[in-house]
Parts: sequence; C-alpha cells; structure tokens
Amino acid sequence: MLRRDDTSTGRSTEALRLVSVSKTYGSGDTAVTALDGVTLSLPAGSFTAVTGPSGSGKSTLLQCAAGLDRPTQGRVVVDGADLAGRSESELAAFRRQRTGFLFQQFNLLPMLSVRENVALPLRLAGRPVDRARCEEVLIQAGLGERIDHMPAELTGAEQQRVAIARALLTGPGVIFADEPTGALDSRSTHEVLTLLQEAVHVHGLTVVMVTDDPAAASYADSVLVLADGRIVDEPPVPAASIAAERLTGRTSRNANRNANLSQDLAPSSYPNPYQRTSPGSSPRPSEKSQQARQPQMPQQAKQTKQSQQLRHAQAA
Ligand SMILES: Nc1ncnc2c1ncn2[C@@H]1O[C@H](COP(=O)(O)OP(=O)(O)OP(=O)(O)O)[C@@H](O)[C@H]1O
Ligand SMILES: [Mg+2]
Repeated sequence: MLRRDDTSTGRSTEALRLVSVSKTYGSGDTAVTALDGVTLSLPAGSFTAVTGPSGSGKSTLLQCAAGLDRPTQGRVVVDGADLAGRSESELAAFRRQRTGFLFQQFNLLPMLSVRENVALPLRLAGRPVDRARCEEVLIQAGLGERIDHMPAELTGAEQQRVAIARALLTGPGVIFADEPTGALDSRSTHEVLTLLQEAVHVHGLTVVMVTDDPAAASYADSVLVLADGRIVDEPPVPAASIAAERLTGRTSRNANRNANLSQDLAPSSYPNPYQRTSPGSSPRPSEKSQQARQPQMPQQAKQTKQSQQLRHAQAA
C-alpha cells in the first residue's frame, strides 16, 4: 500500500519500492539473469548502500529502480509513482523532475560552468532557475568559490559535489548513486559521502548508493547486500560491519583500483559503466581499471561519450 501521507510536501513517505523485480539480459543460451525477484521498500529520508560482489546486479538494480532501464518482470515505484507503462519520454521527464543521479564519472557537461551544470535539469524541464537558490546550494556543497569555474578546473571531489548540489537544487524524491566515489581518493571520498549524509540528514533527501567499497557503505544508514541478483540480507541491517564481513578480502583490491582510477582518470577519459556490448560481457573490476587507464580517446569514442554525457545529464 503506498503512503502518500506527507501533506506538507505531497511527497510519499516511501521513497522506493521494488516488488519482485527481475531483469534478464539476452535470451536462450546467452541469457543473463542480473536481478532475480528483488523486493524492497526504502523510506523517504534514508541513506541506503547497495553492495555485493562484482556482477551481483548492483548497477542493474539501480538502473531499474531509477527508470533508466526496464525490469523484465516486477514493479518499481519511485516517490509514490509507479514506473510501469511509461513511454521513454515520460520516463525521461520523470527522472528529470523526481530523481537525481551521481555516477562515478561525475557526468557534468564540460562546456557548461558549474552554475550552468547545476541549473541544467531545471532548464531542460523548462522550469525557472532561481539564481540565488542555485548559489545557495553550491555554497552548501562547499563550492562558493567555484561557481563560475568550468568542470575541467575542478578536482574529482569538487565535480562530484557539483552533482550533489544539482540534486539539492531540484530536491528529488530519490538520489541514485552508482559508485560515486569509485574514482576518488580516501579524503575526497570522505568529503563526498559526508555531503551525501547531509543531503539525507539535514535536507531530508533519500539516497540509494551502489558501492563495492565497505568503507563507503559505512556512511549509509543501512546496507543491502546483493549476490547473484538477490538480496541476501533484508533491510535494515547495520551499515559498515555487514558489508565489510561480506566483502572480506575485497577491500585492498578496491583500494588499489580506486587509487588507480583517481590517479589515471581525467573526466574526459571515462568509459560508460553501463555500456555493454554483448550479454555477459560485464567488465570485471580489473578490466574496468584497464579501460579507465587508457589516456586517449578515439574520435568516435569521444562522440559516444558526449552523447552519453548528455543522456546522463538529461537523466539528472
Ligand atoms: N547490458 C547488459 N547486457 C548483458 N548483460 C549485462 C548487461 N548489464 C549487466 N549485465 C550482466 O548482468 C550481471 C549484473 O551486472 P551489474 O552490472 O548489475 O553488476 P554489478 O554488481 O553492478 O557489477 P560491478 O560491481 O562490476 O559494477 C552481470 O553478469 C553482467 O554481466
Ligand atoms: Mg556496477
């Protein structure tokens, strides 16, 4: 039963509901079941980490929950709105108006200033942009000195904070974050995750964050652990310790991977984490690092990346 009982905001007190959500990629011999009957309910104002081994379905869950992809079966309800039966353009409009996104590669448009990037979702939605409010959220995100800078002039953590400021400006029902600190060093990770905690605990927003880093998961209020497309712990569970236990042995590898990414990645050289060429071709973390380390992008890849950036920005 949906609860749309916060009369002051008209916002559902249940930020996210998944009912028996499954997702299968491909068919026949090459079919991959990425999600296998996931049911969950997250209250508004909660900070949830989704963790689990590589390939367990974390990103797929996030994409289905955010309306970036459609489940093969099951029901997704975001901020009281059922996503079933919506056209692509309706879903895009819904994402713009009711959700926020943080990706590992920050997804800022390089040709727009910090201020313009923050205001972009409102402009795309044809909504008026309150300049003072825009500056206010940038100051809250610690970017008061960076308002008219370009993304390339910012550190990775600052770029991710711009993406959070963008979410603060639009006040979405849910902020979906996929490994938002995967390309950051530990100090920057702390800054970004602290800001996400503030978004939840001070501004009342809801965050669902995919991470394979137990330390990052520890900033959340509760942790969902996925294995083979299924939730293996029912919420709520205490944050850090559970994730750390489940992922024992992964920490140092992830730390190395994150160090590699933060050292090697320029914003212009990210692969799209959601781009898959064939069923079952999910890059493993080591492969991801190799992809990410490629310093140059061929022209075609640049164009693909620009259209991806635009799509992610439109999603945001
Ligand atoms: N577009 C796609 N086409 C085919 N298979 C896919 C696609 N996206 C994901 N998969 C497969 O679905 C499974 C779950 O993938 P997903 O990306 O959700 O895992 P993940 O937990 O996010 O992994 P990682 O930690 O490596 O990012 C994997 O086996 C993957 O290969
Ligand atoms: Mg993933």
